[in-house]
Amino acid sequence: MKILILNGPNLNLLGVREPGIYGSCSFDSYLPLLRERYPAVDIEYRQSNIEGELINIMQETGFSYDGIILNAGAYTHTSIALHDCIRSLKCPVIEVHISNVHSREEFRRHSYISPVCKGVICGFGLDSYRLALEALLC
Ligand code: DQA
Repeated sequence: MKILILNGPNLNLLGVREPGIYGSCSFDSYLPLLRERYPAVDIEYRQSNIEGELINIMQETGFSYDGIILNAGAYTHTSIALHDCIRSLKCPVIEVHISNVHSREEFRRHSYISPVCKGVICGFGLDSYRLALEALLC
C-alpha cells in the first residue's frame, strides 16, 4: 500500500509555529514514528507552500497511489483549485487538520475541500495523520 502525506503552507514550520496550537514536534520528527508503526505502508511525504505545486503533486500521485492524506493549511479555506483537483483524482483523499478548526476563528469553519474528500479528521494534534491512515487502511 502506498500513500502520500501532503502538507500545505506554513506546515514546514511545525514545532516552531504557534506551538500552543500546533504543538512543539516537527513533522520530520513525527514521520519516522508513523513509519515505524505502519511498516507495511509505504508512506511518502511532501510539503509545499505553493498552491499550484500541491496540485501538481496530487495530479502526479492521485491516479496511482492508494490514498492521499492532505493538510492543505489555509488553502483549505480559500482554494477552489484544490477542490477541482481532488474531485478529478482516482484515489481517496482524507482532509486532516492538527487543530480543531471548528473551535477557532469563524473563517476556519468553511472548507472548500471537505465536500470532495472521503472524510475529515481534525483536532487531534499530529495524531490526526495517524487516524487518517487508519481510515485509509479500512
Ligand atoms: C491547519 C488549520 C488551518 O486553518 C491553518 O490555516 C493551518 C493549519 C491545521 O492543521 O490545524 O495552516 O490546517
